Amino acid sequence: MIKSVDILDEKNKRLHEISEEVVFPLTKEDGAMIEEMLEHLVNSQIEEVAEKYNLRPGMGLAAIQLGIKKRYFVIAHERNENVFDKYVIINPKIISHSEELIYAGGGEGCLSVNRGVEGIVPRYARITIEYKDKEGNTQKLRAREELAIAVQHEIDHLNGILFVDKIDPNDPFKDEDNMRMI
Ligand code: NI
Repeated sequence: MIKSVDILDEKNKRLHEISEEVVFPLTKEDGAMIEEMLEHLVNSQIEEVAEKYNLRPGMGLAAIQLGIKKRYFVIAHERNENVFDKYVIINPKIISHSEELIYAGGGEGCLSVNRGVEGIVPRYARITIEYKDKEGNTQKLRAREELAIAVQHEIDHLNGILFVDKIDPNDPFKDEDNMRMI
């Protein structure tokens, strides 16, 4: 059996709360939670494991999705088949971004949104963030394309925003022509 994290559904109002800055040193509980979240994301993206345990694939998870109101999230980005780059991002700030906008052609997904949602979410094609690592050291990350979308999606979670909140139900593909699909 694998350990599985308990993810809040979009109907839960906590997902719309603004998370608070993490104070260092990280608590043992947060350290353990970060490992569990990463493990879940990796498992969810390995087909055989996901199928066996009925996991929906996801590449990012924010603490608030587990009911923890703290500004951290993790991303497991599949670089090659079943090879993942893992990111632990704490107290992030976007310090610069491209003018160019992109959107995920297949639509964005979220482990808290258990339904298909039509529409596009504009995201910066490239962003640079500053954040703290688990030890509390300041780090910088430059992200582009898919990873940039994931980082922006997760930062939104820290501010109580779900991707579905950014889609106009009356015009879900608004401004599509002004953005590049990836
Ligand atoms: Ni999400």
